[in-house]
This record gives sequence, structure tokens and C-alpha cells, in this order.
Amino acid sequence: MISITDIFSCAKDGDNVELNGWVQRKTKMKDQTFLKLRDGSGTMQISVKRNDDMRDTLARITTETSVVISGNVVIDERAPGGKEVHASKINIIGDSKPIQINKDAGIHTLFENRHIVIRESRLSNVMRLRSYMDDIMREYFRLNEFISVTPPTIIGQEVEGGATLFRLKYHGEDAYLTQSSQLYLESIVPVFKQVYCIMPSFRQENSNTRRHLSEYTHVEAELGFITFDELLDCIEGLIKYTVNTLLSKHKDIVKQLNDKYEYLKCDEPFERVPYSQFIKMINDAGYLNPETNKPYIYGEDVTESIERKFIDNYGKCMFVTRFPAKMKAFYMQPCEDNPDETESADLLIPNVGEVVGGSMRIWDKDLLLKKMDEFGLDKASYQWYIDQRIYGSVPHGGFGLGFERLLMWVANQDHIKDCCLYPRAKGQLIP
Ligand code: 4AD
Repeated sequence: MISITDIFSCAKDGDNVELNGWVQRKTKMKDQTFLKLRDGSGTMQISVKRNDDMRDTLARITTETSVVISGNVVIDERAPGGKEVHASKINIIGDSKPIQINKDAGIHTLFENRHIVIRESRLSNVMRLRSYMDDIMREYFRLNEFISVTPPTIIGQEVEGGATLFRLKYHGEDAYLTQSSQLYLESIVPVFKQVYCIMPSFRQENSNTRRHLSEYTHVEAELGFITFDELLDCIEGLIKYTVNTLLSKHKDIVKQLNDKYEYLKCDEPFERVPYSQFIKMINDAGYLNPETNKPYIYGEDVTESIERKFIDNYGKCMFVTRFPAKMKAFYMQPCEDNPDETESADLLIPNVGEVVGGSMRIWDKDLLLKKMDEFGLDKASYQWYIDQRIYGSVPHGGFGLGFERLLMWVANQDHIKDCCLYPRAKGQLIP
């Protein structure tokens, strides 16, 4: 048995081969039939003579029939990829009922049939790219001396605020599904100095938007003994390495999904714009806060749709930094020159909006306790987190990146749900 990739890379004209897979398309010509065969490694054209031996078999074959095919490799520049296989024998392994799901069916029908729809070429290309992107990110972390860890997803405390927590009973106790592994990663900094994880995070988002899931893949990292600028350098390095490697190693797939792929290339430095200046840029561009119908004022959250329009026009990645402490989480380190602002950053990318959120963390115990009081948190249940400020605390910071959001940008997908296998969002549970 040989894979399609191996046929393209090393089989010679006339070689006898046996290959297996699923029929993606059947096209009847005058006295032969072309099958487009998919075997997981790629697709290949199979040419079959419609003679007496093959007629019945070909009649049984429909889209998604699984088969084992024997035949000869033929170099033919008219075939996709320049090679095809002339079949001498076809064994049907599994018949397939004709598929009657229309690509343009409503989102509900497509979701109910996700297990079939996922086989089509656009979605399967997105999933392939997803796998490559995961490998490349792990490679970036490995090359930069990070250690990968696996924190728990069932937890006892909130990290990013209570409103979107999924609650559950855990052996009779109240527990939650994690929204972020950050606090656990912080606790491992004294062990490995630089750690990361790629884990699911859960958020009970009630609105059905094009960039929110209830379960998403969260790429999180935490670094000890760093400065805020070094943290931003690390985020920028990860995005550039991931996107540029995808473009150099897997350009063919990126190109099939994204006809504007050349705009993805990110070589220039990402601009780092303080929040106060960002508000000014939004107002200067003429956007109004839809809640007040007035220009934004310092301290207001820029509405998602406006942030999106702004960054789409801007056309490049941009950091918004130094958010007011009042707008952000309890753990963010205040800026040295203005304690009302924090060493925090969101990375905005075109076509998506916010893809990364990160900050330096408060590493002084007394300041952390003060902030926890201000945020009304129960300090007793965070004792283990506070302990890190007692046993050899160091300046540290980290970030969380929405994996599916980055994939939306690279694969040019309008909806985050097309960037994961079986999306979890309100109303979507089976399959
Ligand atoms: O900005 P967020 O809430 O940051 C944190 O959770 C930090 N504790 C992470 C850290 O510093 N370790 O979330 C980080 C990123 C967002 O920028 C966004 O890309 C993604 O997670 N994200 C979502 N992606 C899909 N669906 C959702 N419902 C998401 N919520 C956040």
C-alpha cells in the first residue's frame, strides 16, 4: 500500500501501485471514468476504463465510497499534479449512500451533519492547516526553551471574572470549567522559568458572534524574569514565526483557502499603541460609541464591531497597550509611571479583532492582596496563588492566544465555528 503523497514524490512512470481511500468525486467521460481519490495524505486522479470488468463496480461507486485500487502510475501533465493512476482493479470496501446535504443549507442543517460536512475540501483544508499551525507553535516554544505543561480544566476559582463561567458539581462541591490556565502557569514559572500550554478554555458566551466559542483552544504562556517589552516581543515572535512558517511550508493550502495570502506576511514590527492614543485614533476615524452615540471617552471599552472595522482598515497587526487598571483583571501589574494604567496588551489582527490578551502580573504580595480586596475576591481560596509571592517572587508576565481566531485570519474564514472540528456554542452540543 502506498500513500498519495508518496506516489507524487517518488513513484515513476509505469510503477505498479496499490492505494486506498475515499472517492471524493466521480466524473464520467466518453469511455472512461475519473475518480478523485482522497487518502488523508492528499488527493489523486484515478482513470478507469469503462470496460465489462469495471462497469458494475463503477456504477456502485458514489461520493464517499471507500475503495482499494491497484493500477499503474502514469505521468500525464493534464492530470492535477502531473501524475495519475490507471486502475486495473477496484475493490469496494464500504458503499456510500448518496450524500444529499447542500453546501448552502442553513447553519443548523450543516451543524447536524457536521460529521459528513467535515469531509468537504474547504473544511478539511482548514483542519489540516490547524494541525500544522499547532505543530509550528509548539516548535516556536521548543526553540525558545519553553516547557509544555498540562494544567487541570476543572477548577475551584475564577480567573477572568464570573459572568462567563460554566459551573458544575465536582464530587458534591461547586467547581468550574477553566477560562484560562494562567494562574497555574504562573505557579510553574519558578520550576521552568518559561512554560506554555495549549488547552481548552470554556466560556459561557450567550451571544452567538462570529468569533466566540463556548469551548476554544487557548495557547497560553508565562515567562519569568522579563520586562513588559520582552513579553510583547515574545507574542510578536510567536505570531510572526507561525504565520511566516505556514506561508513558507504550506503555501499551497493557505493559497487554496485565502486568495489574499500575501497580505498575511508579517515582517514589519507590530505597532504598540497605548490605549489612550488608541481611543483617539478611533475617534479621529469618526467612530462613535453606539451606547452613548458620542465619541469614546477614556475608560470605555471599544465595541467589538468598531474595533474590527478599525483594524480591518488598518490592515496590519497592532498592539493596544496600557489599559486602565479599572478595565482589566485583578492580577495586572500597574505601570511604573502611572499606577492607574497597567502593563497589559491586546493584539488586534485584521478580519478578526482581538487575538491575544496578555500582561505583566503583580508580583508583590501586598499589592496583590490590596487588588484582591478591591475586586472583592475571597483571598482564602487563592492562598496557593498568593504563596507564589512569598516563595521567591520575580517579575513575570504572560499571555493567552485564541487559536481558532488566529486560524480564522490565516485561513480567511468568516466564522470561528469553521476553525474547529465540532464547535461548541450556544445550542450546539450534538454531534
Ligand atoms: O483576553 P483573555 O480573556 O485573557 C485571558 O484569559 C488571560 N488569562 C490569558 C493569559 O494571560 N494567560 O483571553 C485570551 C484570548 C483572547 O484574546 C481571545 O483570542 C481568546 O482568548 N478568547 C476566545 N476565543 C474564542 N471564543 C471565546 N469565547 C474566547 N474568549 C477569549
